[in-house]
Amino acid sequence: MLSQLPPVPARVLEIGCGRAGGVAPALASAGYDVLAIDPDAPSGALYRQVTVEELDDPGPFDAVVAGRVLHHVHPLGPVLDKLARLAPLLLLDEFAWNHMDEPTVDWYESQHRVLAAAGREPKGPSNLAGWRARHTDLHPYETLRRELDARYEERRFEWRPYFYRWLGGPASESLEQALIAAGAIRPIGFRYAGVRTETVRSSADAR
Ligand SMILES: C[S@@+](CC[C@H](N)C(=O)[O-])C[C@H]1O[C@@H](n2cnc3c(N)ncnc32)[C@H](O)[C@@H]1O
Repeated sequence: MLSQLPPVPARVLEIGCGRAGGVAPALASAGYDVLAIDPDAPSGALYRQVTVEELDDPGPFDAVVAGRVLHHVHPLGPVLDKLARLAPLLLLDEFAWNHMDEPTVDWYESQHRVLAAAGREPKGPSNLAGWRARHTDLHPYETLRRELDARYEERRFEWRPYFYRWLGGPASESLEQALIAAGAIRPIGFRYAGVRTETVRSSADAR
């Protein structure tokens, strides 16, 4: 994220920072002027307990950042329209949950069993079919991508591991990365940097 943001001082909006407060404190420590929002945001000077739709700050911001948020947002189009009006740059850390194939699911669930048997209860679900049945309203990667491409031009994109966040354990990320590199499992995390297209900017300016 720091490698993609403009240099300080710059104004950054974090959306969907969650109860734990997201990356806002790290960005503020790095010298950014940060506002982080989420209905569940913690209290404190960096935070407001609102949704993107409710946010009344007119901006502008230099960038919007979001970690694992947009695949949850309904309706997605109007929220992205608002974000594109507020800032020219969008940085995402996201979850392409629908890219899990059978070997990837098998690997994750077996890692979960091994860690649970060793007494480390991973924070992710033990059974991904059950998880999927409980989360029927998540946007698949292709929907996110289509809505992003309608408003932003890709500046940087990277597929990466994701399950290590759910598994915990010291070796999970490097193991997941090595298996992805070997083609044994699929990457279901991605990072994206997009720059608002001029068409979006002119229609935003006209409003
Ligand atoms: C999976 S959590 C991610 C939290 C945090 N960014 C992280 O990575 O740990 C998704 C968050 O998005 C928030 N969220 C969903 N829709 C939102 C909206 N329209 N505006 C702001 N936050 C939203 C939820 O409240 C939730 O805290």
